[in-house]
Formats: sequence, C-alpha cells, structure tokens
Amino acid sequence: MAKPLISSRAAQLAGSARVPGDKSISHRALMFGALAVGESTVTGLLEGDDVLRTAACMRALGAEVERLPDGSWRLYGRGVGGLTEPTDVLDMGNSGTGARLLMGLVASHPFTSFFTGDASLRSRPMRRVSDPLSRMGARFVSRDGGRLPMAVVGAERPTPITYELPVASAQVKSAILLAGLNTPGETTVIEREATRDHTELMLRNFGATVRVEAAEGGGLAITVTGYPELTGRAVVVPADPSSAAFPTVAALLVEGSEIRLPGVGINPLRAGLYQTLRDMGADIRFDNTRDQAGEPVADLVVRASRLKGIDVPAERAPSMIDEYPILAVAASFAEGTTRMSGLGELRVKESDRLAAMARGLAACGVAVEETQDTLIVHGTGRIPAGDATIATHFDHRIAMSFLVMGMASARPVAVDDAEAIDTSFPNFVALMNGLGGKIGAAE
Ligand code: S3P
Repeated sequence: MAKPLISSRAAQLAGSARVPGDKSISHRALMFGALAVGESTVTGLLEGDDVLRTAACMRALGAEVERLPDGSWRLYGRGVGGLTEPTDVLDMGNSGTGARLLMGLVASHPFTSFFTGDASLRSRPMRRVSDPLSRMGARFVSRDGGRLPMAVVGAERPTPITYELPVASAQVKSAILLAGLNTPGETTVIEREATRDHTELMLRNFGATVRVEAAEGGGLAITVTGYPELTGRAVVVPADPSSAAFPTVAALLVEGSEIRLPGVGINPLRAGLYQTLRDMGADIRFDNTRDQAGEPVADLVVRASRLKGIDVPAERAPSMIDEYPILAVAASFAEGTTRMSGLGELRVKESDRLAAMARGLAACGVAVEETQDTLIVHGTGRIPAGDATIATHFDHRIAMSFLVMGMASARPVAVDDAEAIDTSFPNFVALMNGLGGKIGAAE
C-alpha cells in the first residue's frame, strides 16, 4: 500500500538527534559476524528493512543471529567457508548492497542459492558481480539482462583472480573480496577511483589479511588472502552520514536553524557531500572527532547558511554517490548554478535518480538540465515554489529529498509513496518533526 506524505514549510529547526546506524557498515557487520568464529556483538545496527533482510539471510545460511532486549545484536558465526545451503530463496528486498555482497560470499561456497528482490532490485544490473565471480568458478543463471531472480551455483574449487573494476563500485569490490575469503591464494581488486573502504577496514578488524597498495597505472590494488581465521568482534556502528545528509540540508535551508547530530561516520570516502556543502558556503562543524572501531566519527553541528552554486568535481562522485539527490535540493536554494557531473551510476540505483530528481525539481519550479550523466541546477537564491507531488519510484532517497524540499519551499511538497524510507531511515519522519519539521500524511 502506498504511503503518501506531505511536508510543509518549517519555522526553524533546533535540537540534537541521533540518526540511525550506517547502512553499509550494518550489512558488513552481520556478514562478517556470520563468518567469524565465536561471538560477535553489534551495537547501533541500522534496523531498516535492507539490513533486516541481510540478518535473515545470514540465518538462512547457518549463522546464529539474534537481537537482544537492549537493542544490540549477537552473532555466532560459522567460520570462513562454513556457510550452509539455504533451504529457500534469499529475498534481498530493496537492497543492492545486500544482494551483491552476499552473491560474492556464496560464490565460493560449494552449494546453490537463489536470489530475488523487490521490483526495483529485480531491475538492477547484476552482471557487474556475476562476471568477475564467474571467473572465480561460480555459475549464474539469471533473467534476461543479468537481472534477479538469479541462481548462484557456488564454485567447488574457487580460483583467485586479479580484477580491475570497470565501474567505481564498492559493492562489486566487496563481492570479489568476500568471495576471495574462501578461495586459496590471493584475490586482488584494482580500483582506479577510490570507493568506500568499509569492507577492507572491517575485514582487518575481524582478523583478515588485507593489503592495499598503489596499483600500476594509478589507483589502488586491494588484496585479500584466502582462508583467514576471522574471530568474533564487538562492532559499534556509527550514525549514517548518508542519512545525516537529510537533517543537515534541512537545517542549512530553514532560516534560523541550528542542529546537532552526534556520532556520525565521517570516513573520507563517504564525506564528499559535507565537503561540497562547505564549498557552497555551508556552516557545518565536525566536533569531537574520534575513532570508533577503525572508523572516524564526529558530532555534526549545522547552522542555516546562504549557499552558492558550484561545479562539483566528477572525481568526488564515489564519495557522495548516494547524496546527489539531497545535494540537488540544496542547489535549488543556492544562488547560482550547480553542475554535478560523472553521475552515470545514479541511473542504476534504487531508481533512475537522475531522471527522478530532474523531473521532481522541475515540478517544484526549479530550472534544471539533465544529460546522460550530468545534472545542472540553476539556483536563483530565491525560495522555490514547491507545490508539487513527486513520484518516488519506491526510492528512499528520492522520498526523503523531496520531503526536505517541502520543509523550506514556499508551498508544501508531497511524495506519492514514502514506504521505501523504512529501508534505510525508519524513524525519518519522527526525527525530522522532532527537530521542528512539519511532515504528515497526505490525502
Ligand atoms: C554501497 C556502495 C554504493 C552505494 C550503496 C552502498 C556499499 O554502491 O550506492 O548505497 O555499502 O558498498 P556502489 O558501490 O555500487 O556505487
């Protein structure tokens, strides 16, 4: 059932709010805990639909995964190579990360598993993982175009590969490295553009040997050594910088606002949005910067700011790939033009985000231009009209971006279906309204 919401102009945002745990790190904590020997605990896990699917799948693959009464999670893993054949289809819901990383994990286990997902996930490209994993010895039977549903016949005798990523994708990198855990010898991924390194950091933390070196010809070569003994760990998940992006931009746009967001991950390979907003004139402070189980975190303090349009360098895209929708909203309130390039990957996310943003912003009265991989927003420094109902295409980040748009536009902005927000930010509406937002059910 669709869940339409409407967001109206807010007076001023104030207060402190803890955004949910990092989605990327939450998926990995569950997967690595399921591979480790002994007990792992995870605190701050994102309990959104995407991550809960991964928890269910790790159980289906033989691990013990349990939520404790205090809200933390406890796992007893199977040891590397110890996953067992699932008795039913693995339904990854809306989650590209869950699907691609798990395909990597099972690709080097000698059993067959079946993957599916919702309509959005079933339309997304999977050859980017099945191609390299086939080279390691796994076999895949998929729908036309390499789409889910898909059967993965894991390799009996996996072979290590050296693989250069054709697209800058942490999901593909991670899938190969995870397959490399249950593969003899060394498996290497070469990336020409650095992508988020949560897999590398957390694998090391669990006891794997992961080497990161300069690659010949530029970029990085990341090598994992097969058959490590992973041991149970306590993982503390930072608040998600991709989720914090929504209250951050709302506070920048709503006059007189000042908010605090504690414990947000600021891994440099994830923090491109914050750099970009500062380049546009945003007042964002990182207080109390510290290290949390290998990941840098800080308390964010955000004050309403006048923004100016800028050219966002294409090289920055991997460090803020999920943040372009909300950046485009910020750009709509800025004075001057913001050019965002190198965005081809946005077309194959939970929806075609480039098209969804261009259409939605135009409906709100913003002057936008769209090419195959560029989004140009012409800000005037005046408040956009709003007064539109946006098609979200079951994409959480499109829904949240336009609800933020409504908080600062002249007239309300509605979204046709906000259901997908639960995949990554289940308490989004309560949190935003707690800071002073006015988001409610639409007719
Ligand atoms: C993710 C990587 C990104 C990102 C996704 C999460 C991850 O995808 O869009 O939300 O956890 O590795 P790509 O690496 O495929 O761009």
